[in-house]
Amino acid sequence: MNGRRVLLGVTGGIAAYKAAALASRLVQAGVVLDVVMTADALKFVGEATFAALARRPVHTSLWERVDAIPHIALARENDVIAIVPATANTIAKLALGIADDLLTNIALATRAPLLLAPAMNTTMLEHEATRAHLATLRARGATIVEPGVGFLAEREHGAGRLADEDALIAAIASVLRRTNDLAGEHVLITAGPTREPIDPVRFLSNAATGTQGLELAREALARGAQVDLVLGPTPLEPPAGARTTHVSTACEMDDAVRARAFEATIAIATAAVADWRPAVTHEHKVKKTGDPQTLALERNPDILANLGANKNGLFLVGFAAETEAFETNARDKLVRKHCDAIAVNDVGGERGFGTGANALVLLWGTDGRRDLGTGSKRELAARLWDAIVDLKKSG
Ligand code: CTP
Repeated sequence: MNGRRVLLGVTGGIAAYKAAALASRLVQAGVVLDVVMTADALKFVGEATFAALARRPVHTSLWERVDAIPHIALARENDVIAIVPATANTIAKLALGIADDLLTNIALATRAPLLLAPAMNTTMLEHEATRAHLATLRARGATIVEPGVGFLAEREHGAGRLADEDALIAAIASVLRRTNDLAGEHVLITAGPTREPIDPVRFLSNAATGTQGLELAREALARGAQVDLVLGPTPLEPPAGARTTHVSTACEMDDAVRARAFEATIAIATAAVADWRPAVTHEHKVKKTGDPQTLALERNPDILANLGANKNGLFLVGFAAETEAFETNARDKLVRKHCDAIAVNDVGGERGFGTGANALVLLWGTDGRRDLGTGSKRELAARLWDAIVDLKKSG
């Protein structure tokens, strides 16, 4: 953590006094600490406590130095925004994007990862509203350091006690590690469906939206990689930091990938490439006739297999969208396409294409396996990158 920049946001709960001990530990670990306190936090602990620990001025208002636009500077300069403790009110505001004080403005204006340590009364924690807001934030990629069970200020025993200091330090360290564990890597990602035209108004395609690939691109950028995205037709907006090549057909995707592959150190093929294309694309709209038409097809290039055939040190990760016998089918693809690992995606039932949630298992070698669990595609992107970083390190 030495030399890294942490913004500690302190909100108004009784656990605010524990944030002072955390600030001290962070400073001792070499962190450059900016502390932002809400008006309610100031009712529990004095600004001077944090200023003395951080040896820097504490920020408490959007209006303290309007000329310096403090929320933008603080949002940009820090490697992580850690809100400890996070009250139910702040959690709700963050989930909804409300920005009515310095801290919530910073949280909206930053690209740095967000870490929250909720602490509150058990009933507030268990309220459906709080649970829904925490789920929203988690799905957006925030790290939630779960509160513990214990003695609460209202002299009750229950869930809602701020996580202990070691857990908080470990969680902040882990988020900081993730912010640059792909520094120096050049990542190439294929994403989205392809469209294979029959005539000017009809095409063969599938239900993929590219969400998982875009989340992997976003996460790779957040971890310091350079990212090339080769993206099939989707209404979704690619992350601004990626170099995106928009393509439509599988052949165009293959060409774009070949043009970018020589620079890549890691490639992930998430695209749902159409395996076949119409043998003939009609120049004009095909008119209906009395007789049923037969559509002649020809094979598209296998983009992942082409990458696998010319790897040259590239770490190659495939996806396998399966509806049955998924691990057996995926291991077969892993070998056939010369991948270093393959993420199996169960696209049967409610998960998979186009939906928010997903479930992934990563397979490698003859029996390597890591269950990445279920979650939003954002969460799974983070877990998949954790696994890839570990695999690269060990291999
Ligand atoms: N893939 C690719 N080019 C293709 C087909 C697939 O790059 N023409 C990639 C996908 O991006 C994915 C992996 O190959 O990473 C597996 O895709 P999938 O559709 O599950 O497998 P297929 O090879 O098409 O095999 P099958 O249809 O027999 O399941």
